[in-house]
Amino acid sequence: MNPLRKIRPVWVKDTIFVVFLLLYMFGPLQAVASYLPLLWSIPAIFMLTSSVWSLVELLLSEKRVDPYKKAIFISGCDSGFGFELVKHMAHKGFDVIAGCLKPDDGGAILLRSMQNVSVVELDVTKEDRVSNIAELIGERLKRENKVLWAVVANAGLGCCGPFEWTTIREIERMFDVNVYGCIRTAKAFLPLLRESRGRFVVSGSLSGIHSFQNGVPYSMGKAAVKSLTEGLTRELSPSTKIHFACVMPTFHDTPMVRQATADEIDRKYHALPESLRDKIGLGYLKKIREEIHMTIKSLTLKDLSRTIAKFDHALTSTRPRFEYISDTWLFEYVVWPLLKHFPVDTLHILFEMLPARARLLHKFKCS
Ligand SMILES: *[C@@H]1O[C@H](CO)[C@@H](O)[C@H](O)[C@H]1NC(C)=O
Repeated sequence: MNPLRKIRPVWVKDTIFVVFLLLYMFGPLQAVASYLPLLWSIPAIFMLTSSVWSLVELLLSEKRVDPYKKAIFISGCDSGFGFELVKHMAHKGFDVIAGCLKPDDGGAILLRSMQNVSVVELDVTKEDRVSNIAELIGERLKRENKVLWAVVANAGLGCCGPFEWTTIREIERMFDVNVYGCIRTAKAFLPLLRESRGRFVVSGSLSGIHSFQNGVPYSMGKAAVKSLTEGLTRELSPSTKIHFACVMPTFHDTPMVRQATADEIDRKYHALPESLRDKIGLGYLKKIREEIHMTIKSLTLKDLSRTIAKFDHALTSTRPRFEYISDTWLFEYVVWPLLKHFPVDTLHILFEMLPARARLLHKFKCS
């Protein structure tokens, strides 16, 4: 069956939500409700139906594929989500091939010692290397009578700081890994995925949907990879049955986020031409440093397991979703369903409040 045409309870839920939102926003329901108090119970009915639908979807999608004779390739496994995901999938019994930039560093050494894991050296900016790895993996799996069930394009760099302070070189380098790396991986591995009718999953970010201040180039890159999965779903899924998904975490405590330090901001500021530095001023540098420090300290989530569960779902559920938002339970089930319907004007105000929220949380945590 065409995976695009599978009926999903979430559709029903979202449609009901939007219809009610429009009715409330544009009045007809409010006018009627003043005469008919019973109508006020409609939001409650909505909440109930939506919860029931969510539950149905949850239960239906709990069925998982059998890992027997299935391999998964993951790029960017030196640390962070990639590293954790390798351990998780290998433990479930998949044959996991972990692409590491530095195969002789701590993360890769640890992975190499694990059962069901093999480590390959991979820099996703090298096109020849990516296609070579795909070929080698294809040959090895054929010999072992296995299939490449899934690919996770996870390799990524951080890039934080004001847009004007970030050089074109830095942005190009980040795009080379985060965007072109993902494209190279897709091009090299799609032929193998056609055989298994498997999964292609990318590590996105919530910033790929709503661009963050002081992380604009990074957000642009994540928007590009999200767009890749969305477009390829429409272009390729109907004929190849490959499922494309984008897992979008918010701020998590990974080495990538930890590296976005005040030092990086300082370095970028001091590398600016003097004329621009004078225009921006030290006061602004101080403000940005503080905001980024606060945001990282207060808003990052320590627990990566919720995100790993999202990847797991995308890779192994028999009813995988196309997009996964990963944050706290409260954010995923209450804040995000509302947030995703907000008009951009409202979002600008909410995002402007983000540093203040971080500051408040920081004070709260430190007192
Ligand atoms: C490795 O995979 C097998 C199944 O292929 C599984 O039984 C075993 O538990 C896995 N090993 C580890 C350490 O999880």
